[in-house]
Amino acid sequence: MPRAGVEGEQPADGDIAWILAGRAWIRDRLEPVEIAIDNRGWIHSVGKVRTGAPHHDVGDAVILPAATDLHVHFREPGGLDAAENIATGSVAAALGGVTLAGDMPNNLPPIADPEALADKARRVGGRSAVDLLLYASASLDHPLERLASRAGGFKIYLSPTTGIDAVPNVAGTAELLQRLSDLDLPVSVHAEDPAAFAHGLDAQNPADWNRRRPPEAELRAIDRLLSPPPRLRLHVAHVTTQESVRRLHLAGVSFEATPHHLLLSDRSGPDARFKVNPPLRPEEERRELWAAFVRGEIPCLASDHAPHSADAKGLPFDRAPSGVPGVETMLPLLLARVRARELGLGTLLAAACDRPARWLGQPLGRIAPGHRANLVVVDFRNHRPLSSRTLRTACGWTPFEGWEAVFPREHYRDGRRIVEDGEYVGTPGGGVVRPEYVPVAKRSPR
Ligand code: NCD
Ligand code: ZN
Ligand code: ZN
Repeated sequence: MPRAGVEGEQPADGDIAWILAGRAWIRDRLEPVEIAIDNRGWIHSVGKVRTGAPHHDVGDAVILPAATDLHVHFREPGGLDAAENIATGSVAAALGGVTLAGDMPNNLPPIADPEALADKARRVGGRSAVDLLLYASASLDHPLERLASRAGGFKIYLSPTTGIDAVPNVAGTAELLQRLSDLDLPVSVHAEDPAAFAHGLDAQNPADWNRRRPPEAELRAIDRLLSPPPRLRLHVAHVTTQESVRRLHLAGVSFEATPHHLLLSDRSGPDARFKVNPPLRPEEERRELWAAFVRGEIPCLASDHAPHSADAKGLPFDRAPSGVPGVETMLPLLLARVRARELGLGTLLAAACDRPARWLGQPLGRIAPGHRANLVVVDFRNHRPLSSRTLRTACGWTPFEGWEAVFPREHYRDGRRIVEDGEYVGTPGGGVVRPEYVPVAKRSPR
């Protein structure tokens, strides 16, 4: 396959460099199409027949937009014990078909001032396989305006979680939302109210953890977010119950659900590998959340990729950290549910590709002119059980061991192949992106 703009004579800007042919998800169904990709790595045009450049035909395989994961923790900077870094986490993302990831600010040290943000952006340069959007930590004590001039978004923690000890109170939350509404960046919230935690309860397994941080804690935090300042781009992270879905839906607030809350329950495993915030819920609750996702009522899918070492997860339950890895397995696990006809492909693509990209103001997630050619090629016949031995996340384990998965066969970032035959073959050419809230039609290429 030709590589656009790498070798030889550079064609003029916007010239068609190559054509990707196959079946693609367009206008709510799979159609045979040819996608012309220009030499800047943008989709030039889409049609039945394209000419004027070499073709790469994927045969019976399916061409999809690559995914945007609104919520990962790549742990850099993260101290010596970090179970991931930008280089390893971004390769895991690439293999999982994720082309843009929003990286959270609960680092060591936290991303709470412009210097920490600049340091993290420097670490991305030349080391990331995919694009990253960097969230800054939002607090009334942080220099919000100065952070906003560099950050891609803000993250609010309403409860303690990994790397977070201090949280705002109710009045503080309202004031914080107000201040953030002028800054015009997406704001993601970890919504649990510690006032509703069963602090005295001794937690020995995931079912205890669900009782310690019960669904009521999530609902109470969400109730503080249902009438945000009008201009605020508010989004609630890792929602776990149907009632949360209902309230956020009614209020018109954006939110995400994770593969682990959609697929795993508090009985899926006995130990701290299944300890996560918010907790895995009882099976009945999980089934309702899954049904809401299948009905298309959950706008975004996000992994909350939160790797911890196997050693840390082997500690006694009450002392082990919360969080599970997921950026590499999110799309493959859900594609396997599509293959099993439990989920519509259009529903998955809206939640994993289109809406998250739009939320972050990126021209991604659709196979259409004016969008970057960040695409994956998937062969639904090629499914296999997940095994931690073949995953690339540096933490080296998954809570989905043995689950059926359909991995992308190919992945293109800006028209360049970064995954081939399921292997990473890319270069660390990913960059830091920030929201560009302008209509796609008016946007000039980067
Ligand atoms: C996350 C982590 O480990 O950084 N842990 C988790 O249980 N989800 C933090 C978070 O998203 O709350
Ligand atoms: Zn969280
Ligand atoms: Zn998280």
